[in-house]
Amino acid sequence: MAGHWTEAFSLSGRVAVVTGAASGIGQESACLLAEAGAAVVLADLDEAGLATTAARIHDLGGKALVRRVDVSARSQVDQLALDAVSAFGRLDVWANVAAVDIHKPILEVSEADMDRQVAVNQKGVYWGCVAAGRAMTAQGSGSIVNLSSTGADKPSPGISVYSMTKAAVNACTRACAIEFAPSGVRVNAIGPGYVDTPMTQAAKEIDPARRAAMLRAGAAISPMGLYGVPRDIALTVLYLASDASRFVTGQVLRPNGGATML
Ligand SMILES: NC(=O)c1ccc[n+]([C@@H]2O[C@H](COP(=O)([O-])OP(=O)(O)OC[C@H]3O[C@@H](n4cnc5c(N)ncnc54)[C@H](O)[C@@H]3O)[C@@H](O)[C@H]2O)c1
Repeated sequence: MAGHWTEAFSLSGRVAVVTGAASGIGQESACLLAEAGAAVVLADLDEAGLATTAARIHDLGGKALVRRVDVSARSQVDQLALDAVSAFGRLDVWANVAAVDIHKPILEVSEADMDRQVAVNQKGVYWGCVAAGRAMTAQGSGSIVNLSSTGADKPSPGISVYSMTKAAVNACTRACAIEFAPSGVRVNAIGPGYVDTPMTQAAKEIDPARRAAMLRAGAAISPMGLYGVPRDIALTVLYLASDASRFVTGQVLRPNGGATML
């Protein structure tokens, strides 16, 4: 790769779709991809959160298009890819970030808990890979980034189904990487450790003392004694989305302060 090193990280002229873009890691990733020069299509169920993300991108001078999408519905995900291409003419990056985490001990998991997490975390990522893969393989280039979790490799109590769906995300990533590689499309996953977001803060119900205890517990699983912030993961998304990682496919990168070493 010739040129200044910063060019490898530039997304100037590229088009990105980010699901789960209304909150936490998805919001920060969408903003960073826009800062790097991409036009970004923001997808989520949370319309107020989407508007906040779009406003942040417009303040940066970037381009954002908002779509209310349920990633568990294949037809909506297919339409999202069509909308991105019809608005901006191409599709270069697709980040599957949306997920739900229903914390429960194994003996209390209901069929509804199982179905929801599988529908969003597992099928949603799969349909995202299909929709992105269709457009990108036709184009002959592109990068798909799937949000997995340290929980895929190292479960903790209460996240059995979530862990299972994230292990499926890792398998889906490798399967898509193999099938799409001959068409110039890369597929990778990110398995973060504990990151301070609305998901881990259990939304707004959490009190300050409990939140501080959760952050201490999050840091304690890392030998570095660190918990992550959304920007840590967004920077990993940018690396995998950009040409800086052109030799990387089928991998699970684990920004987790060393919580797992695989
Ligand atoms: N926060 C962490 O510690 C952590 C650790 C490891 C992995 N992750 C993963 O990172 C990703 C982002 O997590 P976060 O902490 O930013 O969570 P978050 O709860 O802040 O954001 C998740 C977003 O997904 C959206 N979403 C949920 N169901 C959807 C659906 N059916 N269709 C469309 N959008 C939907 C939500 O509205 C929300 O905006 C997830 O895949 C999560 O599993 C998070």
